[in-house]
Amino acid sequence: MEYRKFGPLDWEVSALGFGCARFPTVNGVEFDPGISEAEAIAMLRYAIDRGVNYVDTAHIYHGGNSEIVVGKALQDGYRAKVRLADKSPIWLLEKSEDFDTILDGQLRKLQTDHVDFYLLHGLDAKSWTKVQELDLFSCAEKAIADGRIGHLGFSFHDTVEVFEQIVDGYDKWTFCQFIYNFLDTEKQAGTRGLKYAAAKGLAIVVMEPIQGGKIARPPDPVRAIWEGAPQTRTVSALALQWVWDHREVAVALSGMSSMQQVEENVACAGAAHTAPLTEDERALLRRIRQTYEELPA
Ligand SMILES: NC(=O)c1ccc[n+]([C@@H]2O[C@H](COP(=O)([O-])OP(=O)(O)OC[C@H]3O[C@@H](n4cnc5c(N)ncnc54)[C@H](OP(=O)(O)O)[C@@H]3O)[C@@H](O)[C@H]2O)c1
Repeated sequence: MEYRKFGPLDWEVSALGFGCARFPTVNGVEFDPGISEAEAIAMLRYAIDRGVNYVDTAHIYHGGNSEIVVGKALQDGYRAKVRLADKSPIWLLEKSEDFDTILDGQLRKLQTDHVDFYLLHGLDAKSWTKVQELDLFSCAEKAIADGRIGHLGFSFHDTVEVFEQIVDGYDKWTFCQFIYNFLDTEKQAGTRGLKYAAAKGLAIVVMEPIQGGKIARPPDPVRAIWEGAPQTRTVSALALQWVWDHREVAVALSGMSSMQQVEENVACAGAAHTAPLTEDERALLRRIRQTYEELPA
């Protein structure tokens, strides 16, 4: 496993983090609350046993059941092997006290007395205003002081201008999380946001490196290009490596939905520093991207 410095912290994170929004489900429906629990626990523990040390969950994932399954997976000594990230569902907060009530409920579900990283979930211009109105920074700082939270960050869904405003709007962010993959370099924070936050010293946590799985399920014109190209790596391996080739990135979160995906992605992360994309692979990704851009909307 490759490890990278996590922003301002004296700690190194595994290049691959486990996103817990896409566990396998009993009925096969993505995001369903009915998680295939034994399978999900085995997947998470397999990844941790091979060096993954960052686990990302949220209040809303799998209808609230992701936190419960993560809590179970992290029993038997696994909690001490990872740093755990969870998120405050800003849209549910009506008053400042709700921050504490929800955080305490999350800790109970996770069967732990603290989360190492806590994110204000899915910030955009509107929720950023709410964060300030409810003075959630004071709430978070109190939780940091009493040990329930290690470090504060945010995940993000809005324009890069809003992103920069949020980065500059609080001087104690440790990290930020946003969508980044070879197709989405201009979307939301994008490459500009990546450089901006990195220059400010924040750790960069990338989500949707495989565009939520869509890159691995391409439309026909794109599939034809993949199939005609030399098969140096799988599509998902190319997409992950493209993210890791950005040295600003601390960790790429992948929401793996089967053991096979966990095995593949963990193996890729082990070679992330020794196997950057070749010039031919970069050219292939540029061609793929252009083909996507030419597709009807
Ligand atoms: N804070 C936020 O607002 C927010 C938003 C989005 C995500 N997140 C977090 O970020 C994490 C990562 O985002 P993501 O789950 O969208 O990541 P992703 O890696 O882009 O997408 C995950 C999907 O990619 C496919 N995949 C993964 N590995 C594969 C492999 N080796 N071969 C083929 N397909 C593969 C699977 O799709 P199939 O299941 O279809 O096979 C999997 O469900 C989430 O799990 C969540 O923890 C946070």
